[in-house]
Amino acid sequence: MFEEAQYFAPVETQGDGSVVVELSQSHPGFADPVYRTRRNAIAGLAVNYQRGMPIPAAEYTEEEHGIWALVAGELAVKHKRYATEEYLEGAARLGLPYERIPQLEEVSELLEPLTGFRYLPAAGLVPLREFYGVLADGLFHSTQYIRHHSVPFYTPEPDVIHEVIGHANALAHDRFAALYRLAGDAARRVEGAEALEFVSKVFWFTMEFGVMAERDELRAYGAGILSSYGEIEEFRGMQIRPLDLRDMGQTEYDITKYQDVLFRAESMRHLEDVVGEFWATCDDDSIAKLTHV
Ligand code: TRP
Ligand code: FE
Repeated sequence: MFEEAQYFAPVETQGDGSVVVELSQSHPGFADPVYRTRRNAIAGLAVNYQRGMPIPAAEYTEEEHGIWALVAGELAVKHKRYATEEYLEGAARLGLPYERIPQLEEVSELLEPLTGFRYLPAAGLVPLREFYGVLADGLFHSTQYIRHHSVPFYTPEPDVIHEVIGHANALAHDRFAALYRLAGDAARRVEGAEALEFVSKVFWFTMEFGVMAERDELRAYGAGILSSYGEIEEFRGMQIRPLDLRDMGQTEYDITKYQDVLFRAESMRHLEDVVGEFWATCDDDSIAKLTHV
């Protein structure tokens, strides 16, 4: 995600093995030392994680579970009105809890029997190639900490609500899961940094912020829209463009604000034909042709 990888806050490991995560001044938790300590402690769980181990459980406080319950409740109502059919089917299959934050291990156990996807904990920055590449293996890197309680409807960086409510509900549907895997294949196949960035931008404008025509309405399937009950009320008023690879690859965006340019697929099938086909076949040469007109 410009990348899930690059918009994660930088992480520093201290001499004693503890972890400090940098927060930008615009983050709602910036001036809250209690929040920052919590976030560092939870991010620290991911640091010594090795693949194959069960994901260490985060001991969330009642207040943290309460933020999840508030946001999950608000989102469930809005999803009925604004999310695409396949996303809603995925959510119904997955059956996430509403009243408390599920552990990532638990999310993996719900998801794996459905589409084979499992979650991996991420403390912060995951290099782009690693982040996208492992999608091909059915692995999804995820933060574990939760947004600041003062602004529950939108947070400027991905948190466990975004990763789980936004992404896992999509990953629970076979057709979305297949698209995520193809993005992973593409990230492994391309060699140059520019080509990788192009692949990640297409991911950004689809799996993160994609919208779709459905029965004469515009609905969202992108995880970044579907995890924010502030942004979800606004996407229909944004600049909506046709699904065009060249345009997605050349459009700039600011990761910390509501997205004002969105790309519309005409159907799930259309998304698979354009974006799935691109990820399934792209290489450095074909991407170079899309960037240099
Ligand atoms: N705004 C999202 C939310 O409130 C979280 C988020 C921040 C995000 N930056 C992002 C999601 C970039 C996807 C991509 O849930
Ligand atoms: Fe994301």
